[in-house]
Amino acid sequence: MKTRVTRLGGLLAAYQRRDPAARSKLEIFLLYPGVHAVIYHRIAHWLLEHKLRFLARAVSQWARFWTGIEIHPGAKIGRRLVIDHGMGIVIGETAEIGDDCLLYQGVTLGGTGKDQGKRHPTLGNNVLVGSGAKVLGPFRVGDNSRIAAGAVVLREVPDNCTAVGVPAHVVRLQGRPVFFADDVDQISVEDPVMLELRELRSRVKRLEEKEHLQNEKPDFYLERIDEYDLPEYII
Ligand SMILES: CC(C)(COP(=O)(O)OP(=O)(O)OC[C@H]1O[C@@H](n2cnc3c(N)ncnc32)[C@H](O)[C@@H]1OP(=O)(O)O)[C@@H](O)C(=O)NCCC(=O)NCCS
Repeated sequence: MKTRVTRLGGLLAAYQRRDPAARSKLEIFLLYPGVHAVIYHRIAHWLLEHKLRFLARAVSQWARFWTGIEIHPGAKIGRRLVIDHGMGIVIGETAEIGDDCLLYQGVTLGGTGKDQGKRHPTLGNNVLVGSGAKVLGPFRVGDNSRIAAGAVVLREVPDNCTAVGVPAHVVRLQGRPVFFADDVDQISVEDPVMLELRELRSRVKRLEEKEHLQNEKPDFYLERIDEYDLPEYII
């Protein structure tokens, strides 16, 4: 019991840290839909683990009705999850969320409809998902990463990254801009024109050798003409 109260205290403190508009813990406890959704989810998850599927779903749907936040009872949620504003949030059955994550309104942690079994994403610790962002598929969003508002993430996001856009791409790594041109080895790549010239030179050399053979030893050449793959104009 004492642990549960401490955990609740940690959750409320997380709201105070993350939301500048949040005042007292009592106000957060009584009025914040994100807090209610997480508490309901703990109950629903416990019921599901004790094979009380119908009751688990009933609690989850009740929470959705009150908060606008739908968390499937099967989802695994870490400590101190802050759901700012709530409304329009969907967290799928096989989604996993690490500790200290922050979700804004309209976030979906869903599936693409193409996968079976694990279908929903896994968020690492301290992940921020901006309002309206959709994270779809059974991949991982790394620790301390940020998903921009409105992004649609369809692929894994490494640790400490910022992903933006539709489909989302990484624009910041460890807080620094990502320039893909920097990743390309532009010094040790082979010059394609040189490669073509080298190939042409070796073909000319082969043809010269064959021509020389034809002129020097015509009989020998004629006996073995089939072995040479020469163009018609030379034969
Ligand atoms: C992505 C976000 C977390 C900022 O992360 P960050 O690592 O500090 O990234 P930056 O602000 O440095 O922006 C990085 C680049 O992404 C762009 N960017 C930021 N947010 C974006 C968005 N939502 N959509 C598209 N591009 C975005 C920036 O313009 C910048 O582009 P540049 O590289 O051309 O300069 C923030 O912009 C965001 O979307 N937060 C969500 C907040 C939210 O949902 N609030 C709702 C309150 S009710």
